[in-house]
Amino acid sequence: MGKIVLGPHEIQGILDSIHDAIMAIDLQGKIILMNKGAERIVGIPYKECLGRDVLDVVPTSRLPRVLKERKPELNRQQKVGDISIVTNRMPVFNEKGELVGAVAVFRDITEVKELAKKITNLKEVQATLESIFNATVDAISVVDHEGKGIMINPAYKKLTGYTERDVIGKPADVDIAEGESVHLQVLKTRQPVKGVKLRVGATGKEVIVDAAPLIVDNKLKGSVAVIHDISEIKRLHDELDKAKRIIRKLEAKYTFDDIIAEELNMKMAIEQAKNAAITPATVLLRGESGTGKELFAHAIHNASNRKYNQFVRVNCAAIADNLLESELFGYVDGAFTGAKRGGKKGLFSQANGGTIFLDEIGEISLNLQAKLLRVLQEREIVPVGDTKPQTVDVRVIAATNVNLEEAIKAGKFREDLYYRISVVPIFIPPLRKRKKEIKPLTYHLIKKFNQEYGRSIQGIDDEALQILESYHWRGNVRELENVIGRAIINMNYNETIITPNHLPNLTNEKFNIDIKVPKSTTVKSLSAVLDDVEKEYIQKVLILNNFNKTKTAKDLNISIRSLYNKIEKYGLQ
Ligand SMILES: Nc1ncnc2c1ncn2[C@@H]1O[C@H](COP(=O)(O)OP(=O)(O)OP(=O)(O)O)[C@@H](O)[C@H]1O
Ligand SMILES: [Mg+2]
Repeated sequence: MGKIVLGPHEIQGILDSIHDAIMAIDLQGKIILMNKGAERIVGIPYKECLGRDVLDVVPTSRLPRVLKERKPELNRQQKVGDISIVTNRMPVFNEKGELVGAVAVFRDITEVKELAKKITNLKEVQATLESIFNATVDAISVVDHEGKGIMINPAYKKLTGYTERDVIGKPADVDIAEGESVHLQVLKTRQPVKGVKLRVGATGKEVIVDAAPLIVDNKLKGSVAVIHDISEIKRLHDELDKAKRIIRKLEAKYTFDDIIAEELNMKMAIEQAKNAAITPATVLLRGESGTGKELFAHAIHNASNRKYNQFVRVNCAAIADNLLESELFGYVDGAFTGAKRGGKKGLFSQANGGTIFLDEIGEISLNLQAKLLRVLQEREIVPVGDTKPQTVDVRVIAATNVNLEEAIKAGKFREDLYYRISVVPIFIPPLRKRKKEIKPLTYHLIKKFNQEYGRSIQGIDDEALQILESYHWRGNVRELENVIGRAIINMNYNETIITPNHLPNLTNEKFNIDIKVPKSTTVKSLSAVLDDVEKEYIQKVLILNNFNKTKTAKDLNISIRSLYNKIEKYGLQ
């Protein structure tokens, strides 16, 4: 075979056919060789470059340096104008090993770089999407176009109890406990679906699923489903229901089990109340202030067959007389100035099917007594401004601490109403006649305050208990409640037993009602000081009057309603 000898023209032809760029210089740094590839990058026809100093053509060239150092530089990145290149530079030696020049072989990597940038961006997007995918509380599952599982997120695993091993590569319906796979539906129809109810996972959790097709370049690639756990919503719903039931019950929160009764007189009162509860009879609860009349009213309602219906309490003393009628019986549109448009339902109507508790019935006006009598006789109410009577089915429980017999004598209470309401009178004995109950009541109250104040009081010592047992208890259980509450406030956090030291001063003598202006280091406004004094004074007169509000209001020369407002304002009792 003959040796092929290549002339400079052929060599140039070969060099030009190489996509990579080539450029060589001699010892003087003059360009002696260059191909089309280099021309494309340099942007100057190579014929114009030949013989020119390389730094003239490519000011950033490092070929002169390679020449000087006699060392190759491989895989270096560099800029030529706007173009990024990657280049290998090498010194060139002749057969004798003498340095004759340097050559660079390089290529345009602008596109590659752009691509790399895009990939980096993609990676960032992917990382962002991945963290969203992993962090979202909604479970997500993705299947491919054949319906085989390809991706699930941690929320999915938590919800279904399944792991990648159970679903990846498996048919779309592996996780379904009840219902049809939405993935398959989406793949079939290429349409999104929303709000499908299913049961998924090993435990068959109730979920709502939304799913959508994954379409890339008009090709169906799969389906993605977002699964919302509704068992949690259901649980919250149930909880809300429960809370609502409790609130409803709070309207009549006590039962006979909540009433402490150790003495015969109290046990008898409870027995009477229990017997009355199961009849529709009107009950009149009588007893001093704070003996537990309200407690009894709740218990009677809850032991009656009306317990699932409303228990409506009306404090007859606290509502102004001119309002009481419309409050009780309601009114029709335009009944009086200031009336709500469309009228208003009265408390009797609200209590329909249930119980109405007319507290402090001894305080209502003669005018209203007449109207109430009619209601009790006819079982009908007439809303204010109306003429048509409405039938109501309401059980009435009334309560009073007023001596009604005396009120009748004084012409303040209608005798006929008295007989109507006291079908079943129940007398609740005062605490001073229920000495045996002081201990269990005290423990009951300690428990209650522990819960309210977050304390852990264990009990009361004998000496302190004896003080309580020998006290007169004008204010009955409510006063006992006050005393225990104050004792607990007097206790340090490390003290767990109530001792005489903790008890407020209990004397059976008339109270010294000289009011001292409370000592205060900071200057208070006059109205604040007056409020303090008013509060203290009312509290003392209340105690002085055995918590009888009618008497207290009279002594203070204010209306009973105004007294109620102040009691509420200062949180007395
Ligand atoms: N036997 C009891 N067992 C447990 N707690 C009781 C008992 N008697 C009364 N109480 C408590 O004492 C407080 C006063 O009771 P309640 O409000 O029923 O009295 P009242 O007779 O309606 O008083 P007033 O006439 O002042 O309205 C309440 O906090 C109640 O829970
Ligand atoms: Mg009461």
